[in-house]
Order: sequence, then C-alpha cells, then structure tokens
Amino acid sequence: MNANELSGKTALVTGATSGIGRATANRLAELGADVIVHGRNAARGASVVEEIELAGGHARFAQADLSDPADISRLAAEVGDVDIVVNNAGTAWFGPTVDTDVATYDGLFDANVRATYLLTAALVPGLIRKGGGSIVNVSSMAGRVGMAGGAAYGATKAAVSSFAQAWAAEYAGYGIRANAVAPGPVFTPIQPEDATASLGSTTPLARGAKPEEIADAIAFLASDRSSYITGQTLSADGGYTAV
Ligand SMILES: NC(=O)c1ccc[n+]([C@@H]2O[C@H](COP(=O)([O-])OP(=O)(O)OC[C@H]3O[C@@H](n4cnc5c(N)ncnc54)[C@H](OP(=O)(O)O)[C@@H]3O)[C@@H](O)[C@H]2O)c1
Repeated sequence: MNANELSGKTALVTGATSGIGRATANRLAELGADVIVHGRNAARGASVVEEIELAGGHARFAQADLSDPADISRLAAEVGDVDIVVNNAGTAWFGPTVDTDVATYDGLFDANVRATYLLTAALVPGLIRKGGGSIVNVSSMAGRVGMAGGAAYGATKAAVSSFAQAWAAEYAGYGIRANAVAPGPVFTPIQPEDATASLGSTTPLARGAKPEEIADAIAFLASDRSSYITGQTLSADGGYTAV
C-alpha cells in the first residue's frame, strides 16, 4: 500500500481503543486518513490518538456506548460525514448454549449486530453525500464454522457478514462498497492469551495473529486497492476455514 493513499479521507474506526481497532486506526492514519478513534474508554482513546499523532498522523477521539441506540445517534451526529466506516467494536462470550442467559445473549446481539446496523444506517447518508466510500465489518471465523460454545457469538458475526452482502447490493449504485473481514484467533484483550495461542496452534499457520495482520486486511478493503470487491468476507484466519 502507498503512504498517503487515504489522504483526504475521513475514517471512523469503532472499538479503536484496543486490539484490532487500535491497530486499524494506526494503519489507516499511516496511509493518510484522518481517523476518528471511537471507544468507551476515554483514557485509552486519548493514548491511541497520541500514538497516531506521534507517528505524524491525524486523529481525534469520539466516545459512545454502541449498545445504546441513543448514543449511536449522538456519535453519528458528532462525527459528521465520513468516507470509511470500520465496524469493529464488539464483545465476545463463549459458553454452552444451555447456560446462555437472556442478558448475555442480548448483550452480544446489541453490541455486535444492532450497533453495526444502526451506526451504518446513520452514517450512510454522509457516505452518499461524499460520493461513495467503503464499509468494513469485522466478522469472525466463528461466524463461518461451527465452534462449540460459540453459537450466539458466531451468529452475531455471521450477521455482520450478511449485512455486508446486503449493503453491497443496496448501496453499490452510490459508489459505496461493503465487505467484512473474518479474523481467526488474534492476540488482543478480548480473550486470554493462552486461549488465543491454543486455537492459533490448530490453524494451518500454527499460530495466532497479531492485530496488525488483521488491520492490513481491513485497510485493503477500506482502500481503492479493493475497488472491484464488494459484498465479500475476507478470511484472515491462518487458513483455518480453508483446509
Ligand atoms: N481477537 C480475536 O481473536 C477476534 C477474532 C475474531 C473477531 N474478532 C472481533 O474483532 C473485533 C475487535 O475485537 P478485539 O479482539 O480487538 O477486542 P478488544 O481488544 O477487547 O477491543 C474491543 C473494542 O470494542 C469496544 N467495544 C466493545 N463493546 C463496545 C460497546 N458496547 N460500545 C462501544 N465500544 C465497545 C471496546 O471499547 P472500550 O474498551 O473503549 O470500551 C474496544 O475498543 C470484535 O468485533 C471481535 O468480535 C476478534
């Protein structure tokens, strides 16, 4: 990718205070985008903005709890028109289906599915005003293959891949592409390091991913390098779902 290939573009990365979102915010800023670093934790948000600025990039923080529809509307109004939306914020829970209580189930769907849907709906008019753009949803390999204990979480991730397909159809005529990235196990705070290492050892590449390796896949789909790709889910899972 070329430095500055995203210059003049504004990118919102949700859940950019940690893990994959943080790496993505840094990568998009390195490529020249003005990045809106979203999260709930203002202190971590400030530190991500600082690391982007120290590297010569441009960023600002925007806080919102995406489980709250009113906060989503407020965030969309605050960020204004953007060119790139990375729907990355999410939460995970694994456990037996029979032990999943209603609050846990609703919490997963509110944060991972409803938030992605409502935020994108609020931002699409701005993408249209800009003459087009790119939406990238962060899915998971758990949405592509059955994983014991992952029924509810996996369904939330299959849903955001499905959103990308429908939005590809709905908004192609406005110059908007929509895709998803489905990571395998990635070393982030979302799950214990030993769980990521253990699952990573079962992939053909025999390891978990660094967040930066997922950020590169997201940046590709966010940029014009993927100009003929829409409605797809790109697996970045060390080959787990392929062989
Ligand atoms: N790590 C993996 O192995 C893996 C694999 C496949 C897919 N994924 C997906 O990748 C995405 C990022 O996960 P990660 O591994 O980077 O996890 P992470 O390090 O725990 O980061 C999660 C991010 O999401 C934000 N977030 C969570 N719930 C939110 C809510 N209700 N409202 C606003 N922000 C919220 C957090 O913000 P605050 O901390 O500021 O609250 C944080 O920035 C998730 O969608 C996850 O499902 C991860």
